[in-house]
Order: sequence, then C-alpha cells, then structure tokens
Amino acid sequence: EEEVFRTKVLLMGASGSGKTSMRSLIFSNNPASLTSRLGATIDVEQNHVRFLGDLILNLWDCGGQDSFMDSYLSHQRSTIFQHVGVMIYVFEVESRDMAKDLVYYKDCLDALKKYSPEANVFLLVHKMDLVTGNKTAALEKKERDLQYESGDMDVTVFGTSIYDESLYKAWSRIVHTLIPNAAVLTRHLTTFAEACSATEVILFERTTFLVIATSTQTPQSADVHQLSTTRYERTSELIKALKHSASRVREEFHALEMELPEYTAVLDEMTKNTYVLIIVHDPVIETAALKINIRLARRKFE
Ligand code: GTP
Repeated sequence: EEEVFRTKVLLMGASGSGKTSMRSLIFSNNPASLTSRLGATIDVEQNHVRFLGDLILNLWDCGGQDSFMDSYLSHQRSTIFQHVGVMIYVFEVESRDMAKDLVYYKDCLDALKKYSPEANVFLLVHKMDLVTGNKTAALEKKERDLQYESGDMDVTVFGTSIYDESLYKAWSRIVHTLIPNAAVLTRHLTTFAEACSATEVILFERTTFLVIATSTQTPQSADVHQLSTTRYERTSELIKALKHSASRVREEFHALEMELPEYTAVLDEMTKNTYVLIIVHDPVIETAALKINIRLARRKFE
C-alpha cells in the first residue's frame, strides 16, 4: 500500500482579494475572464485535489468577509488553524484598507504559530496588473512591509496576477515545497535529460500543468540557448490553452511533437499524474528516440 501525504492548505485574505479566482484558474482550468462572475465565498469552501498520485491537497478557501474572519479567529480558531501545512495569504497590491488587512493577517499568524507551528507561510501580493507605475518598486516596498509585519515568522512573498504567468510561478513554487520526494525527482530528471542529450526536461502535473520539477541544467546550455526565465509558466499556459481547445472539439489531448529548425520538443505522458516536456537543441536526436526514452523511464517516475 503506497503512502499518501495529505496537506491542509489555508487560502486566506480579505474579501475580493482574488482567492477564489486563483483557485478556479489553477485547479478548475477556468479562463481569467470568467472569474468576475464568481460570488463571494460563504464561510469555508473545502476541496480535495489529488496532486500527483500520492499527494492530496486539502484546500480550504476561507471567505474573507469580516464576519467570517472574526469567526475563524474566535470560536473556529482551533478548527481552522490546526494541522495546517501551508497558509497562503492574499493581499491586494492596492488594497483599500491595508491597516485592517494587517490586523487580520497578524491575528492569523498568531493562531498559526500556536496551532501549527511547523506550517509554511506564503504571501501573495495580488492583482499586480493594476499597478500603473513601477511594478518592481511597488512589489519591493510591499514585500519589505510584509516581512516587517510578519516579525520572526519566515514568509515567502510573490507578486501575482491572474492575467500573466506570475500566478503559475507562485503556485508551482508553493506546490514544489509540498512534494515529499522533490529532490529525488529533480535528480531523476537530470539523469533523464542527460540520457536524451536534452537541453532541459520539465515535469508538469497532469490536471493543473503546474511545474513539479525540472532538470538542473548546465550553465552552458542556458547561455548558448538564451532560455527565458518565464519559459515554464508560459509553457503551462500554452498547453492549458491547447487542452482547453481540444476539449471544446471533444478531443482529448495526449501528446505533442514539434521539430523546429532551432530545436525539437516532445511532450508526452510520463506517469498517470504527470507530463514530461523534453527540449533538445541537438539536430541529430530524433523525436522517435525521445519517445522511446520516455517509455523506458516511466517506471522510475511512478
Ligand atoms: P471572498 O470570496 O469574498 O473572500 O473573495 P475572493 O478573495 O475569493 O475574491 P474573488 O476571487 O471572488 O475575486 C474578486 C474579484 O477580483 C473578481 O472580480 C476577480 O475577477 C478579480 N481578480 C482576481 N484576481 C485578479 C487579478 O490578478 N487582477 C485583477 N485586476 N483582478 C483580479
């Protein structure tokens, strides 16, 4: 019997900050344009997401209206904050009432420290698309403020928006920390990349297409091919769009091959919960060979 890891993930933040939108975008594959139709979350909406075969995320989307927050922090305090693996707290970059947001946030941190002292905390500075001036400066300032307000708690801050790949990047990084054998996966992928003479190999989760792990590449391949820093998230988005179009014409999406002058790309199922993408710049390597390699490697990744 394989071991299953369950992790409770609290998704918190003021009403309207965008929690349900990001959940629907990442876990239900809804396009960003549909999020404006979502109603306010009443109390807590619980979802189980089987992420990889042996990792189940128990996602608690906590409605952010004051009356709900007051109740989480009083009589529901121990229920909400116990057994938490990760708390993701969402702040709007241009919040109408940051002072109030911080009062609630700090109370949540206190509760978390008491009931789940081992939990990891991630802060999302969300709706970055609404910043009209210098986005980097705005994010840096917000990050400094939030680090200060968090006191001795270790927190990781990401700037996010549902309209670009930043949300993917943040969630991929968060989920990566939850994968029990992440380091082993990375090692296997690196070996696999070498066997394929690949520039890079990326492993995606099947339903969300979040990046689970990547091969560690040689500095040389990065230099020579000038890999973009947002390539993973952009690929996730592209494939999700492709899957979406495929489902509209009632076709199921299975695999993809591209042979371009500069490089070859093969995307295929690796295990029942993952897809692998192999990027090869060596023109001698054929896609058929890569597909055989995938078949041979499958067992290692189950
Ligand atoms: P409660 O359920 O009341 O706690 O709110 P919530 O945090 O779940 O907010 P919700 O996801 O319902 O989003 C509120 C509004 O913010 C929606 O109209 C979304 O379209 C919008 N929104 C979400 N993310 C973004 C973003 O990145 N940028 C912009 N501009 N709007 C966003």
